[in-house]
Amino acid sequence: MNIAVIGAGYVGLVTAAGLAEIGHEVTCIDDDLGKIQVLNAGGMPFYEPGLEDLVKRNRQAKRLEFISQIEHGVAKCQAIFICVGTPALENGEADLSSVELVARRISECARGYHLVIEKSTVPVQTGRRLQKHFGIYKSNTQFHCDVASNPEFLREGSSIEDFFHPDRIVVGVDSGKAAALLEEIYKPVLDQSFACPVHENCAPRSRVPFVVTDINSAELIKHASNSFLAMKISFINMVSDLCESVGADVGKVAEAVGLDKRIGGSFLRPGVGFGGSCFPKDLQAFVRVGQGAGCDFSLLQEVERINLRRIDLFVNKIKNELWVVRGKRVGVWGLAFKPRTDDVRCSPALAIIRRLLADGALVRAYDPQAMEKAKAEVPQIEYCADAYAAAQDAEAILALTEWEEFLRLDLMKVRHLMARPLIVDGRNMFSSATLAGLGFEYVAIGSGSSAREQLFKTGTVRAGG
Ligand SMILES: NC(=O)c1ccc[n+]([C@@H]2O[C@H](COP(=O)([O-])OP(=O)(O)OC[C@H]3O[C@@H](n4cnc5c(N)ncnc54)[C@H](O)[C@@H]3O)[C@@H](O)[C@H]2O)c1
Repeated sequence: MNIAVIGAGYVGLVTAAGLAEIGHEVTCIDDDLGKIQVLNAGGMPFYEPGLEDLVKRNRQAKRLEFISQIEHGVAKCQAIFICVGTPALENGEADLSSVELVARRISECARGYHLVIEKSTVPVQTGRRLQKHFGIYKSNTQFHCDVASNPEFLREGSSIEDFFHPDRIVVGVDSGKAAALLEEIYKPVLDQSFACPVHENCAPRSRVPFVVTDINSAELIKHASNSFLAMKISFINMVSDLCESVGADVGKVAEAVGLDKRIGGSFLRPGVGFGGSCFPKDLQAFVRVGQGAGCDFSLLQEVERINLRRIDLFVNKIKNELWVVRGKRVGVWGLAFKPRTDDVRCSPALAIIRRLLADGALVRAYDPQAMEKAKAEVPQIEYCADAYAAAQDAEAILALTEWEEFLRLDLMKVRHLMARPLIVDGRNMFSSATLAGLGFEYVAIGSGSSAREQLFKTGTVRAGG
């Protein structure tokens, strides 16, 4: 099928390349000329494992092209995926101006039938508004369309895996024709019948659940899913604070809680909180939607509040160790909001760095992929060639993104490079026993040891208590 994908960001580019890989003819459109030029020159506008090969292969096979003008791509395409950004407005609502602009362009140039699919994360009832919009603004009477919602659940860092082996594909439609077209588009993924570009010997897999629902429900499923995951993170962070003050080990607590199949172990890692371009803004947008409908969404407001407090708590931990921060050299390992991406949008690492800079710290940072993007956000720190350089003469290392590379470091070497061998671990990446054995001072999240020692000293608990 001829398909247009509008937006060549993390979602659009993966969708375009994935759809081309399963046999469609895809035109990927972005109004950022620089991005289109980079892609047409064979480069990548951002880092995502496996994406470069996928794009290259499908461009060579002439199944994937990149252009900047919507009107040059839409006419020949039966299906049009909208994958533009929907960032948060100041009041927390989703900014739908890019979606609206794209809809306006489509209305101006579309002829005949098109299926317009919102893949961007949008508030419930956006599909309804799009339908109305097309009715009002279409400039050609022959243009008629179905609008569908097809929320995206990919995770940056493993988005190629997620495209080809999703947990489910959700489509919100209000016509049988739209459902049938979406099923046809995704057929190879639903049947798992493609030559897998991710795994060398891809084991046969069962059919992917295809959830067909109304448009409102599909839109709501995306916000509800992300809010639930954010809630799990804030929940375990709340529990980790208790562990820290009463002398329990949140690692063990999370492990055992997660072994309950009804709960599951993922997203139960305590740390400096969630960030990225999705969870914070989707949570806010969902709260606004709930409030707008007169529902009590205070549960999710609390999730957000707990997450914001993670930064204060972590900065306090650092200050507790360093006492006076001003003039002290601090090394930072990790800038991206999570590993295997260069995305620094709403990254807790940058929030922590900004706080330390305000307190007069001298920050030297290293990230395997995210330094270019971080430089645009926080230009005033020193960016280092590797993790060892960031540790040089530092009075503390802050581990803020759990890149595997950090686990393979020669920690003895790190210790000798540092002015004071202190690691403050915002992701609980390291083993306290290993680091203590190497002579480090180690501060993690939610490990009750420091509080416990304090209680022993004051005689509040007895040994073995
Ligand atoms: N990034 C993720 O992990 C993820 C996962 C699931 C869903 N989503 C959702 O998908 C949507 C896109 O997210 P993203 O991370 O890919 O954003 P992004 O910022 O990386 O990409 C958006 C792209 O749209 C382009 N664009 C904006 N306005 C345009 C226009 N008028 N015409 C053509 N192109 C235009 C931008 O230039 C940009 O390249 C958002 O709604 C987001 O919430 C993101």
